[in-house]
Order: sequence, then structure tokens, then C-alpha cells
Amino acid sequence: MEIKVLPDLTITADSDETLMDALVRHRLSVQNVCNGKGTCGKCKVRISGRVPQPTERDRKHLNETELAAGIRLACAVIPENGMIIELDVVDKLDRKEAALLGMKAATLDPGVKKVFLTLSKPTLADERGDWDRTVDELINVTGKNIVASSLNVIGKAPEVIRADNYTLTATVTDREILDIEAGDTRSTLFGAAVDIGTTSVAVALVDLLQGTVLKVVSTENEQTAYGADVISRISFASESRQNAVLLQNAIRRTINRLLNELNLKTNVNLKDIIKMTIVGNTTMHHLFTGLDVSHLAVAPFVSVCNRPLQFSAHELSLDVNPQAKVFLLPNIGSFVGGDTLGAVLGAPEVLEPGNHLLIDLGTNCELFLKTNDTMVACSTAAGPAFEGAGITNGMRARKGAIESITLSEQGVSCRVIGGQTPIGICGSGLIEGIDEMRRTGVINAQGRIGDPEAISNLPIELQRRIRGTEKGNEFVLAYGLDQGRDITITQKDIAAFQYAKGAVCAGIKTLVEMAGLAVSDLDSVILAGTFATYLKAENILNIGLVPNIPPERIKAVGNAAHMGAIRALLDDRELAFAEELYRKIRHIELGGSVTFSDYFTDSMYLERLD
Ligand code: FES
Repeated sequence: MEIKVLPDLTITADSDETLMDALVRHRLSVQNVCNGKGTCGKCKVRISGRVPQPTERDRKHLNETELAAGIRLACAVIPENGMIIELDVVDKLDRKEAALLGMKAATLDPGVKKVFLTLSKPTLADERGDWDRTVDELINVTGKNIVASSLNVIGKAPEVIRADNYTLTATVTDREILDIEAGDTRSTLFGAAVDIGTTSVAVALVDLLQGTVLKVVSTENEQTAYGADVISRISFASESRQNAVLLQNAIRRTINRLLNELNLKTNVNLKDIIKMTIVGNTTMHHLFTGLDVSHLAVAPFVSVCNRPLQFSAHELSLDVNPQAKVFLLPNIGSFVGGDTLGAVLGAPEVLEPGNHLLIDLGTNCELFLKTNDTMVACSTAAGPAFEGAGITNGMRARKGAIESITLSEQGVSCRVIGGQTPIGICGSGLIEGIDEMRRTGVINAQGRIGDPEAISNLPIELQRRIRGTEKGNEFVLAYGLDQGRDITITQKDIAAFQYAKGAVCAGIKTLVEMAGLAVSDLDSVILAGTFATYLKAENILNIGLVPNIPPERIKAVGNAAHMGAIRALLDDRELAFAEELYRKIRHIELGGSVTFSDYFTDSMYLERLD
């Protein structure tokens, strides 16, 4: 049967699959936090045309207004002919990515260059082969013994050298001829830097001649259809080889989709992309390359490979020049990936003299500590709350997300991305909202909403926004307009947040202690990651996301991991430096640490922590 997906797509669906299955099979992105088990309530779609009766699962997660508006859970819908589906629209350019546009190289030495060659024509007295003639001239011009190449490139020689009167351009590294093109093409040389996040993926197109970032695009990682975090993806991939291939294809498709978007937006021919760098956590690294992730999930949590890796684009099925060099930054440990090394390259101030802590906030929070004596790194599983997932009205930081909240006697004032009607709350909004609720007494230090002792002291406008539900109390941030759905922070959301922030704070304390320091010895705390840019130091200190240090020592640096990937693209010395760091950084596993467990319990309170 056929289903229309707005605005202009028609897909087929089988009678033995759910709407979610059909959407995933057609590579359409739909939130799928619980993997179709019916517990998360996130896979909402709007159905018109032939609207099915609500199922029990729909009734559990959707209110009457939503049901009347045709909203259903995709994992509970049996497709029928004539259905018209509306999916959530993903904002293509993430706020963080805008900061990378126009970024210019401090140093430029990408390790690939173009060399223009004019060949002598063959004669009976000079009957050297076409490729031999090309290589001889290249050695003559460069003075370097560059001879290695692929059969594909060698095979192009007869056509290329004759296409423009025996003139051609060779794209080379110090050892290898990556491509040959007819005539003089020295004015174009491009690279792409990729940040594979668990939730979103970003690709930057970089001019390797000028050293500038031309365009950055990002989108949701297609793997999210198979699970929200690294643990659920590892478990899915470990079930069968077929599942692992599904995840591998999903991330490769996501990257190729972004590359093609870059092509459309810039007119740069993807075949002119000759170098790529990739950062990601260890799980993303393995799923992308097709390495087995099953041992990552069980003690002693062993990866297949942490060393720096290099492949051709052809081997990785990437839609750029098939001979393009693709570099994967090394992983530091099983849950501390090349994205952490990328973040160190992207925020080099963390390596300055003194004691500096870098925190890459995300579902899997990675910590890197550099002291005057050592460099150590660890990870702590914060869960998806910071990314707006696993939160009742949580969403990514895109249009319609509440990003900032102020509580006062007059009630609640929200700033919404895009200035439109709010449809959810993103990580920065959640943190500010919880701090405001704490400050005004809507919640106490234990995180309890509407403590009877405190509630009578609240302004009336705040009191009336606290309401009881069968799942516990909740606080209304914004009353629903269009579909009548209110945006709330629930008791369960606060518990999820306390878990996340407790894990981060305990990780910091444990790592600092293992390095022989006290938190007060830290000269700076550098926050990296998508939403960290939008956090206020006072908020994160007030709720104890980081231990109590002077706010002026806290600095946000944006998506440092992607910046690091761009730096490594622009300068091979950065790649070499990443390799040097990989050998020097000591990985610490917090899993069995009693200190971590003790700190974790103490770090759940929503108050400044010493
Ligand atoms: S309720 Fe449908 S995917 Fe979770």
C-alpha cells in the first residue's frame, strides 16, 4: 500500500509492519527513544486522510486534543492506504554550527597539494608508458619519489593526458598520487571534517587552499531510529551482524546526505574533496567503520581499535573522491573517543600551563584533565537529558525549543528559538528552568516539586502552575495553544536531570582526586559540546552540575570536537599531535570506582557543591 509523507514523498508500507517500520525502512527520521516498545511516547506523527482509531498506546501518551488533531504514535499505527503523514521538521543548521562558518586556519599544511605537469609527447624514440611519463615528470618537478597510486588512477592516464594536450594536474601527498585531472585545476582543493555525534552529525566543507570553512551542515544521526544512546545501539548491533550493518549504513547514509547537501549549496564538486577527518565517540567510530562493538558493553569494556586509522573514501563508501584520504582521530578508551582528542585540538587552551579540565557534555559525557604532571581522561554516562531526550517535553535545540527561562512574581517568561510558539524544551532551557525553580522555591534541594512547606510562600502565579498528575507533580512552563499541549517540567524530568548532573559532577570530583588535586586547584573548566555554549556559569554552579569554583574560571567553547576535526583537516601537524596526545593521555575507567559511587550519591542535590 502507499502512504503520502508531506510535503512530497510517497512511500510503500507492508501490511505486517508498523508505520514506524515503514518510515525507518524508507530512511525517514522519526524519534524512537524506546525502540518502538511504546514507553517513550516520542514517535508522534500527524495523520490526515485516513486517520486510524487511537490505540491503547496512543491514549497512554497523547491527550484528547492531540488525538483529535490526528496525532498518533508511529510505532502503534498499522499503515493503511490513503494515509497522509506529517513528520517533525528538523532544522538543518544547528545553532552551534553557525559559529564554525568562516573559521580560518591559523596554520595551513593539509598534507595534500596539486602539481601542474606538462608532459613531452611520446615518440618512437620515447615510448615510455603514459603513467610512467606522468610519474617521471612529477618526480622531476617535485624532486620527490612520489610513485604509489591506485589502479583506478593509473588507468585514467591515457585519457587524462591527451584531453588537454599533455597537460595535467596531479593531486599528491608526500608519497602517493591520489588523482590526476586534465589541464590545470590547481585553483580547487577541498576537504571535509565530520563530527559523528550520537544524536546529530555535522559536516564542514573546507577550502584547503584558502584555509577557510565554506559551509557547515548538520542533521540527526539516522542511527537514532535504532536507539537513543550508545548503549542501546551497542545492544542492537550486538544482536546480529545484519543489525550492525544497518547501523553502519545509517551513519554512512547520514554523512553522504550531508555531503550532497553541501554540493547543492556550494556547487563544489564532491570529487574535488580529497581529504577528510572524522571525530566521534568510540561507539560511533566502530559502527561507522564496521568494527565489532559487542565487547564495549561488557566488562572489561574492550574496543577493537583505538589507534589512529586511515582509509580511502572508497573503502568507507563516502561520496567524495574515491582516493580521498580519510583520517579517524584515535580513541582514548572504550568510551572516550576521537571526539575528545578533537575537543583538545579545538580548545588548545586546555593544554596551557596549569590545571585545566575539559568537559564534553552530552549523552556520554567525556572529561579530560591536564595538570602540570599528567593528562587523564574518563567518561561518565549522563544519559540523554542534556540533549533534551528522555525528558517529557524535551527536544533538540531547534526552532520552537525553549532555550531560556525566567521565573518571577508575574509567572514564567520563556525565550524560544525562532521566536515562535514553544513546542518543547532543549538542554539549556532545562538547566536554566531547573535553576529558576530552585531559586524561587518551586523545587527544593532534593528536587521535589511543590514541597508543602515552601509552596505557600510562592507567588500565586507560580503556585498555580504546580499541579499534580498520576505520575507526580509537574510545573507548567507554557500553556498549550495550537494543540492544547502544555509544556511542563515533571518530577520525572527533574530526576533524570539529577541523575545526569550527578554523574557529571561525580566524574569531575573523582578524576580530579585521582590526579592528586582538589577542585579548587582547577585554573579553568572548559565546557565543550552543542548546548554548553548557551549555558550560564551561575546556573550550572547553582544546581551543582560542576563543583563550586569561581564562575570566571568556567568557559564555554562550543563544538570543540568539530573544530578539532577542522584543524586536523587543515594541518597534518595537528593530526600528528593528536597521535602524540593519544599515546600520552591515561584513560581511567570509572565503572568500578567506589569513590565515584560515593560522590555520585552526594552530587544529586540541586545546590552548590563543595
Ligand atoms: S513510543 Fe513509539 S518509539 Fe517509543
